[in-house]
Amino acid sequence: MPRTIIEPFRIKSVEPIRWTTRAQREKLLRAAHYNLFLLSADDVLIDLLTDSGTGAMSTHQWAAVMEGDESYAGSKSFERFRTSIQDIFGYTNVIPTHQGRAAERILFGVTCKRGDVVPNNTHFDTTRANVEFVGAEAVDIVISEGREPQNRHPFKGNMDVTALRELIAHVGRERVPLVMLTVTNNAGGGQPVSMDNIRQVSAACREHKIPLYFDACRFAENSYFIKLREPGYESKTPKQIAQEMFGYGDGCTMSAKKDGMANIGGFLCTNDDLLAQEQKDLLILTEGYPTYGGLAGRDLEAVAVGVQEALEEDYLRYRIASTAYLGNHISEQGVPIVQPPGGHAIYLDAREFLPHIPPDQFPGVALATELYLEGGIRSVEIGALMFGAAAKMDLVRLAIPRRVYTQSHIDYVVEIILEVWKKRSSIRGLKLVYEAAFLRHFTARLEPLAAKA
Ligand code: F0G
Repeated sequence: MPRTIIEPFRIKSVEPIRWTTRAQREKLLRAAHYNLFLLSADDVLIDLLTDSGTGAMSTHQWAAVMEGDESYAGSKSFERFRTSIQDIFGYTNVIPTHQGRAAERILFGVTCKRGDVVPNNTHFDTTRANVEFVGAEAVDIVISEGREPQNRHPFKGNMDVTALRELIAHVGRERVPLVMLTVTNNAGGGQPVSMDNIRQVSAACREHKIPLYFDACRFAENSYFIKLREPGYESKTPKQIAQEMFGYGDGCTMSAKKDGMANIGGFLCTNDDLLAQEQKDLLILTEGYPTYGGLAGRDLEAVAVGVQEALEEDYLRYRIASTAYLGNHISEQGVPIVQPPGGHAIYLDAREFLPHIPPDQFPGVALATELYLEGGIRSVEIGALMFGAAAKMDLVRLAIPRRVYTQSHIDYVVEIILEVWKKRSSIRGLKLVYEAAFLRHFTARLEPLAAKA
């Protein structure tokens, strides 16, 4: 293979990005109280805040948008949406929602009650919040390797099946309304789950007659990792792998803002017709009629095309290679990252990067704000600011939007990170001067600490 990553697309429409000077960025950051969420996106050069809803749509998707049927009930767009999703996911009921968390709310709303327990490899924050909102407990049981940043296990998203069986035995089957598997494991570094692990989790669920649901946001990336890393899958297509994977489950929640390649949208699938009826009743109450679920017909069209495009091998090869390219080029120079590189993001280990900054002075925020000052790059802290004292790690996530940035953009990001790495000993911690009662990271205000005399 050639060494250069060739983006498997040509660019037909461009969106300018804006340079700022370091002096301007210092001023902008001060005005944003050292919180990158409070910056105007226009003042960011390369935006790696999230891969959610930030991707570029293809000409086929835009053409499909024009075919959107905006009928309130029974639209053709819904038929195309359902057909495309069933082709990959195989579930009998497909319920559109405006994004992933709406599917979560409806799923947990109809299946869980106070005192229930929901096991997952690792709950994403909205998934955890929706489980807890109905009074149930969200339990993370990823394998121990998944919690070690330097461990290069090929499937660090795997669930600990022994822990799952022990949990079911301990709390009793009747308190476990469903088991979830998040593919790939976002909160654990964008790490994949193996087919073998999916099969074992599925077997444990079937023995106890507990339904297995996937949090399927990055299902295409997970399928490609299985193709690359799991014996027996080398010559299967990502689509065949995805079909097999979903065959071991009973349903899924999905944010189409990730591997749906759309800017908005999601869905909830289930093979349980009775449950689907209850879910649709709730959907009508809060999202919309079951043939649009809070989306426009044109959004359904974009997702119908997008989920198929996410499985194209040329695309996935480029996608996974460009994320690894970023991770490998900085880790070769000693920059500490969560290994191996994930599917959608690279996670910098801020405690290792800035060992002189204690966790209560927010090393993740210090690193993220320095990346902005140095090169106009926006990332997100996942650590002491987001989780408070409960944070086990201080990470900075560099999430890569789909089909948006080219290799030269990524080269620039590498250069900036290496510049910051060189001057790491001069970076200072911060103190919190304002925090909201919950989800404080979105609105927190901080101030840099004065340099030691
Ligand atoms: N599950 C996972 C694994 C996610 O990563 C997300 C969103 C959701 C569910 C919720 O989907 O945003 O459509 O409601 N993750 C984004 C991120 C926000 O930046 O990682 P949503």
